[in-house]
Amino acid sequence: MEAAETGRAAVADRLLTSSLRTSYDPTVEIDWDAPHTPGAYWLPPQRSSLYGTPLWEQLSEEQRVELTKHEVASAASAGLWFETILMQMLIREYYRADPTSRQAQYSLTEVADECRHSIMFGRLIEAMGCPVYRASTVDHHLGRFLKATASGPRMYAAILIAEEILDAFQREIMADESLQPLIRMVSRIHVVEEARHVRFAREELAAAVAATGPVGMAYARLLVGRAAYTIANRLVHPDVYAAVGIPPAVGRAAARANPHWRATLRWSAARVHANLAEVGLVAGPGRLLWARAGLI
Ligand SMILES: [Fe+2]
Ligand SMILES: [Fe+2]
Repeated sequence: MEAAETGRAAVADRLLTSSLRTSYDPTVEIDWDAPHTPGAYWLPPQRSSLYGTPLWEQLSEEQRVELTKHEVASAASAGLWFETILMQMLIREYYRADPTSRQAQYSLTEVADECRHSIMFGRLIEAMGCPVYRASTVDHHLGRFLKATASGPRMYAAILIAEEILDAFQREIMADESLQPLIRMVSRIHVVEEARHVRFAREELAAAVAATGPVGMAYARLLVGRAAYTIANRLVHPDVYAAVGIPPAVGRAAARANPHWRATLRWSAARVHANLAEVGLVAGPGRLLWARAGLI
């Protein structure tokens, strides 16, 4: 085995050991029937897409809490949609992998984590009494294309974008004692297990980039930009605004123009943008999509 190969196997081996020590079954760990805390937000209010806008000022305190609940349901819907894509990409990769390698075994362990996460997000949406905010038809087809074709740098970069953007929100939520206990618990479980996924994806991404030629990298930059655009756009589904009596198109336009929300998007993407830019995956036309999505 080459040195780089040995290094990747060692990382995967450590992640497998860590998975044995700290993995959670959300159906057992979380009391799904516990009453919600009256008046507590589901997201820090300053992370709401409408925070600071005239529309926000017109909402009652109760409606503001309600809006953050639907924004969380939207993010959870996006999270489990993306996890379904991710699981299929990892399984597709596994199909041609060496099943005795630690990397292949860790891939399967990650799929097992994501199975529990998607159940957890489904239970969360149900417990909040919110609708499932589904991807648009265009995004649905883009997702189908991604999960059927992406491999190498495209696959690991798309995984990192989705995981790291959600992770930024969840780390803040789990540390904020003023928020609903249910969303703090869900965030804590997700953050612990996702830290391993992010570590693994960075390692595999570096190897995949090293093995990809200039044409493959140019295609990857474009696809990665499109994935970033979709994820940023999909985070808050426009229908969430209807839950507090705001027409979806009006809410969406206000969020897009909201400097607080634009700052939140940049904050959530800062880490993954820096990492992907460092390996040469944010440049050219793909970079324009990052900018159009408000992520940079
Ligand atoms: Fe997950
Ligand atoms: Fe993950």
